[in-house]
Amino acid sequence: MKLFLDTANINEIKQANDLGLLDGVTTNPSLIAKEMKNGGSFREIVTKILNETLGPVSIEVIAEDYDNMVKQALKIRELGKNAVVKVPFNSVGLKVTNALSDKGIPVNSTLIFNGIQALFAAKAGASYVSPFVGRLDDIAEDGMALIEQIKTIYTNYDLKTNILVASIRSPLHVLRSMILGADVVTLPFDVLSKLPAHPKTSEGLSRFLDDWKKAFGSMDFPL
Ligand code: E4P
Repeated sequence: MKLFLDTANINEIKQANDLGLLDGVTTNPSLIAKEMKNGGSFREIVTKILNETLGPVSIEVIAEDYDNMVKQALKIRELGKNAVVKVPFNSVGLKVTNALSDKGIPVNSTLIFNGIQALFAAKAGASYVSPFVGRLDDIAEDGMALIEQIKTIYTNYDLKTNILVASIRSPLHVLRSMILGADVVTLPFDVLSKLPAHPKTSEGLSRFLDDWKKAFGSMDFPL
């Protein structure tokens, strides 16, 4: 299970790197636009992210027609060897995914909301599919059921595309992704920060340290 950070914020990426947890990054136009408001051009922000991340970094095209999507994809790839081109799933996106993967360019097929889209993206050669679980939960559909569905379809047909669970809102989404055997989860920084905590761990540590203090009257280490 790979852990990606879903952000365009370089400080969040550095913090996840320091924890030794960062396998990659995903961005989207909304996340990059938010960072650009704080200063920095698209090129500067994306280049910093690519340099700070050892693993793959997904960067999305913003054109909607085939020629410009391909042009933007090639420009994105020029920015770094670890750049993965994020292509929205639709019929033009499928054609772009097919053309880019034929050239050996890795594609993250994004905005996946059902199993048929996931199968088509895999057949077009996508390296990753991004099903958005939180946005399905938002409309009272079961986002995690989609992950189970895609896992079954990919197993049935021996498809090698990585299932990258996106739009994650809670640690439970992460745990369920692990149980279902998803390949990657991409996490907002606040969800990543919540993952290591467990109340019984904190309670256990307090009890050990209290017992020590009661016995020895101080926290000096005896060696
Ligand atoms: C995925 O790659 C997207 O960037 C992201 O996970 C969308 O999440 P949201 O639904 O919380 O915006």
